[in-house]
Amino acid sequence: MKILQPTEENLSLAAEAIREGELVLMPTETVYGLACDATNPEAVQKVFAAKGRPSDNPLIVHAADFEGVWACVNEWSDEADVLARAYWPGPLTLVLPKAPSIPEAVTAGLATVAVRVPNHPVALSLIRESRRPIAAPSANRFMRLSPTRVEHVEPALAKHVSIALDGGASAVGIESTVIDLSVSPPTILRPGAVSRAMVTSLLGALGQANTGERKAPGSYSRHYAPRAKVAFARHIDPDEFGLTFGMPESDKHILMPRDPELYAAALYDILHTLDAHGAETVFIDPLPEGPEWEALRDRLAKAAGPS
Ligand code: TXA
Ligand code: MG
Repeated sequence: MKILQPTEENLSLAAEAIREGELVLMPTETVYGLACDATNPEAVQKVFAAKGRPSDNPLIVHAADFEGVWACVNEWSDEADVLARAYWPGPLTLVLPKAPSIPEAVTAGLATVAVRVPNHPVALSLIRESRRPIAAPSANRFMRLSPTRVEHVEPALAKHVSIALDGGASAVGIESTVIDLSVSPPTILRPGAVSRAMVTSLLGALGQANTGERKAPGSYSRHYAPRAKVAFARHIDPDEFGLTFGMPESDKHILMPRDPELYAAALYDILHTLDAHGAETVFIDPLPEGPEWEALRDRLAKAAGPS
């Protein structure tokens, strides 16, 4: 993996790599993505191999604008239009019926495709220059923590990447909200920075995600996990690594912001850093109850999930 600054010249090189079916590390405002040409099934196969991801878990396709998205979907509803106009470019992914140009390898054989316009100048330039829709899952090995900086990418994944574009730290810091618009009423499959309240204020009542036999693809009880074990504790021993809301009692404790946006922006970077320090367990002060903490409760519950 060659790490390059996103100069005009390097963006051209990365776009060429995409067109040639290679993998590029792409910064986005949520997390870094492992990007490839979504219309090239062999390139898509490389993404699954690099991540060690089961082939039944579909990828998100990224476009630079509405026209780019429309080329990937077969249907554009009023609901899609309202949400996209409010939150694109941004941390919102819409699941819609797929266009024939999107290979089944991307959608894991589903008739729907997940699409989003990322809010990051480097991602937008890469998509425009490559002149392709870009499939990009988070650039972590299966079940692990997503990278929010180039330095977070694991060697086991990096060896599959030709070029990494360094776009600095991802501002949002957790993965996009995924909302299924192919069902009625629409359903949030993965909470994110675009909150349930923001979606319901535009669409009205939402459905319940399926958790039984027909559960959403990619909904595992363990996910987004650092190497260290994650556990919740109201009082954290000074000898243990901890993320706390109260005054730190030890230099192994990190004071976390009481604002969910700031918490999300910092969380993965801190967990990657604690992993690099060889932390065995990270204790986490339980999150507040409010709806604005839903996405972070989801990520931390999964990070602490059964291995
Ligand atoms: O913020 C993000 O969304 C990042 C950046 C790189 O854009 N990408 C990301 O991709 O998180 P990934 O592959 O790690 O997560 C995509 C999620 C998975 O849970 C997957 O199951 C779901 O979206 N998904 C993708 N296509 C779907 C579909 N057709 N129907 C239902 N869920 C889908
Ligand atoms: Mg992921």
